[in-house]
Amino acid sequence: MKRSEVMQKHKDYIFPCVVNYYTEPLVADRGEGKYLWDLEGRRYLDFFGGILTISVGHANPKVTSRIKAQVDRLQHTSTVYPNEQIVALAEKLAQITPGRLQKSFFTNSGTEANEAAVLLARMATGSFEVVALRHGYSGHSLLAKSLTAQAPWRRAGVISVGVTHALSPYCYRCPLGLTYPGCGVACANDVEDVIRTTTSGHIAAFLAEPIQGVGGFITPPKEYFKIVFNIIKKYGGLFISDEVQTGFGRTGKKWFGIEHWEVEPDILTTAKGMGNGVPVGATVATPEIADAFQGMTISTFGGNPVTSVAARATIEVIEEERLLDNAHEVGNHFRSRLEELKEKHPLIGDVRGKGLMQGVELVKDRKTKEPAPQETNQVMERAKEHGLLIGKGGLYSNVLRIAPALNVSKADVDEAIQMLDKAFAEVKV
Ligand SMILES: Cc1ncc(COP(=O)(O)O)c(C=O)c1O
Repeated sequence: MKRSEVMQKHKDYIFPCVVNYYTEPLVADRGEGKYLWDLEGRRYLDFFGGILTISVGHANPKVTSRIKAQVDRLQHTSTVYPNEQIVALAEKLAQITPGRLQKSFFTNSGTEANEAAVLLARMATGSFEVVALRHGYSGHSLLAKSLTAQAPWRRAGVISVGVTHALSPYCYRCPLGLTYPGCGVACANDVEDVIRTTTSGHIAAFLAEPIQGVGGFITPPKEYFKIVFNIIKKYGGLFISDEVQTGFGRTGKKWFGIEHWEVEPDILTTAKGMGNGVPVGATVATPEIADAFQGMTISTFGGNPVTSVAARATIEVIEEERLLDNAHEVGNHFRSRLEELKEKHPLIGDVRGKGLMQGVELVKDRKTKEPAPQETNQVMERAKEHGLLIGKGGLYSNVLRIAPALNVSKADVDEAIQMLDKAFAEVKV
């Protein structure tokens, strides 16, 4: 198909809610390593990886060879027959997830992983109410949308029964108008206020992302989650860490984002980067909590042999190539290069994130912090013209989300910075 035909068919046959980036959307054709090619043969350095999903590079041969072999051997059985691939992946997850997390329920997506986590927390505690965070994003189902707290993702028919939202630890736009560290991390205490005033006082769970992804890589102060954890326990709740974006080494040094904040979750959910692009998700819980699941449930494709093999191969590449360290080192380099860009371009109000999950918030004026969504689009368009793909997010659509594969080098980062620098210089304000 030609580009124009793809675009026409997209318009004719796909829900319009499936929006594309760019005024002239990029029609993707193939990927290899850090590069993505469009249908017309143009090559791009991919620093968004299909929304933080390509962990070890496009078409990584160590992953695809295992997928191909598994497709030829056994593609699908459903979970009614145990197989070696599902148990091997579950065992690996038990080894790399923090604390006493041990048993997994496999799904096809992050949305379903969060659904299963909340359902399990309700069964395990006998309570119903859930506290989530403003600016959070949890997925596209009705429950996940009700946990989500950004209006554009919640339109029409989303009702948050039994879900309340506490303040986000969004230091750059502190909801309490305070400044860290003088604030004493006062936003964390809002979780207790919310429980006392908007719930029955007995909660099933608190669910949060260690760094809010779609919300614009909002990175909490290091004390935040420790304070919240103690509050949650006081009211009988389980701590659910949504690692759909922060999981599998993305934040550098550690496998999971929550480990940076020194809190042991009761339930952890994951998807995206777990399988380098295959549709796989997981809800991982401690044995007692997992064993509290009542009644029957099934995910026909959950723990599928092919996706299980892909996830295990991805984890093994991360281990063999020491990509947790690489994400940390290259991430630090990336961060300092982005801070340099901030010195140079007044459009940049804030740089934040961890490892290879770096966010750049754009503002029209550093004093008023008025969001700059049009300028953000311009930077994305110009970066694409120069051959660099990045993403965006944030309630105001003014945060660049930049997240290359975990095996990029400092030289790749320098190349991306050059393209970003040019893009910023070309923005018309
Ligand atoms: C933190 C978080 N949780 C859940 C989800 C939903 O995952 P999925 O799109 O795989 O259903 C997303 C997707 O962006 C996410 O960022």
